[in-house]
Amino acid sequence: MRRKLVAGNWKMHGLRAQLPEVEAIAAAAAAAPAVDVALCVPFTLIHPAAQVAGGLPIGAQDLHEADQGAHTGCISAPMLVEEGATLTIVGHSERRGDQHETSHDAYMKAAAAHRHGLGVILCCGELEAERAAGRAERIVQSQIEKSLPDDADPSWLTLAYEPRWAIGTGKTPTPDEIASMHAILRAKLRMMIGEAKADGMRILYGGSGAGGNAAHILALDNVDGALVGGASLTAEKFIPIIEGAASVS
Ligand code: PGA
Repeated sequence: MRRKLVAGNWKMHGLRAQLPEVEAIAAAAAAAPAVDVALCVPFTLIHPAAQVAGGLPIGAQDLHEADQGAHTGCISAPMLVEEGATLTIVGHSERRGDQHETSHDAYMKAAAAHRHGLGVILCCGELEAERAAGRAERIVQSQIEKSLPDDADPSWLTLAYEPRWAIGTGKTPTPDEIASMHAILRAKLRMMIGEAKADGMRILYGGSGAGGNAAHILALDNVDGALVGGASLTAEKFIPIIEGAASVS
């Protein structure tokens, strides 16, 4: 009942020269109707990407919690909407690490995005030292407690579990570790928003997702899609992940 979602996160990559990749990814998404696909690009590419993306949803990777104001260098939900974004990532671990963002920041940003009709991919995930210390589950649960929006609903909200140490490193947790964390997240959601909404909400896995491991990871219980960084930058690498998702849908 939960359709798989494969979302690309281009991070700080991509100039207009890469728009043909967006077009090729959009064509592949159209050819995989059993799977939802989205692409979160740099702010500067949202408008041009939306122009060539056809039905492929184009998203942002962050936003400010306020609609406007004296916040030099920041961007708001209404600005993203005007450029053609239909969703945004919030709480990505690179924002938490590089920009010192907290789970409360993610909570405020998710609310701002939802106020303006943007879909939200809300990220959580532990650091390597936290997993080594046996604290991964507690950390991730606490992130969700502090960041899950009050009116969390699967119609606009998706979670993404992204262990920080798996991002861009080529390392992935074992299938058991992924399935176990996703089950914990499902249980946490049930406690917080009730069974019906919790069971409808997609929980993506992210961290070194690639064509070679996608189908295997996406077939795990409670893994409802993938948030993909490096392997989403080209159609050549991203399409096998879309196809992997389609193969287990
Ligand atoms: P990666 O990044 O696929 O390059 O590991 C995933 C992410 O940060 O969303």
